[in-house]
Amino acid sequence: MLISFFCKKGGVGKTTVTGEFAGYLTSLGKRVLIISIDDQNSVFEMFGRSSAVFEDDSNYLEHYVAGACEQEKALIPLRDHLYGIKTLNTDMLSKKLTLERSFERQFVAAIDRLQQGFDFTFFDLPPSSNRTTEILLEKTDLLMLIVELNKLGINGFYNTLQYFVDNDIALDKIRYVLPNGYSKTKSAPGVALGELKALITDNIPHTTLLPLMPEKSLFQSLQQKGVILFDDNASAQAKTLTSYELRQKKTVMEIMSALFDSIEFA
Ligand SMILES: Nc1ncnc2c1ncn2[C@@H]1O[C@H](COP(=O)(O)OP(=O)(O)OP(=O)(O)O)[C@@H](O)[C@H]1O
Ligand SMILES: [Mg+2]
Repeated sequence: MLISFFCKKGGVGKTTVTGEFAGYLTSLGKRVLIISIDDQNSVFEMFGRSSAVFEDDSNYLEHYVAGACEQEKALIPLRDHLYGIKTLNTDMLSKKLTLERSFERQFVAAIDRLQQGFDFTFFDLPPSSNRTTEILLEKTDLLMLIVELNKLGINGFYNTLQYFVDNDIALDKIRYVLPNGYSKTKSAPGVALGELKALITDNIPHTTLLPLMPEKSLFQSLQQKGVILFDDNASAQAKTLTSYELRQKKTVMEIMSALFDSIEFA
């Protein structure tokens, strides 16, 4: 199953949700592959594997698609049963996909081969629009839009719907909307949530609005330490989380488990 995490706006939590959801599914015994289509490849940092992005310059997605690198070499281990693939240059890849029809077939065939060894293949998409994103959004089985709960986030959501319409990508594809950055003590996220609900009703009524993802600085501190919520506490402790962070991790993990649990794949 191919799952895309998308929003045209940057910094809304696409990579955070991709990595944490992958960790959650792996904790349930699933095999997950994350293909970083964003050439920032920031998902590797979440797993404490940022060095893997630069230590070998011949195992990018582009090399695999061109047949210049074996699958085994392209798959970078992140955790047990969880692998990542890095992209060298999203713009160049997109340019080639735009200009050469035969390369599009080769690209799609490579994605199909990759996904065969996994229960779930995730695309961590960049915020920009490009041909690679369009092809993968078309191909995706389950699309989740991530929306940041503030004024700019709502604009980003609206721009994303417009982008779908402009590029003839069916709005029906959007199965879930995940509102990120909820806080009980602030008024802005509540206001944004109201606007988001109205926009969903008007434009994509078939979509399911997922439970709210809370605003927690814990996400940033975990990412800086290369720890994910679903790492067990012993291995997290080894990465020097404070006892406060470990307690918070347990609470946030429960919230995120309930959120991920509500996602249906059928
Ligand atoms: N719920 C949250 N609470 C607090 N911080 C968050 C939350 N979700 C994400 N962040 C932080 O926001 C920043 C951006 O998140 P992330 O990289 O996941 O966004 P993105 O949409 O993938 O960005 P880009 O468009 O650059 O790919 C990160 O520092 C992350 O830790
Ligand atoms: Mg990202």
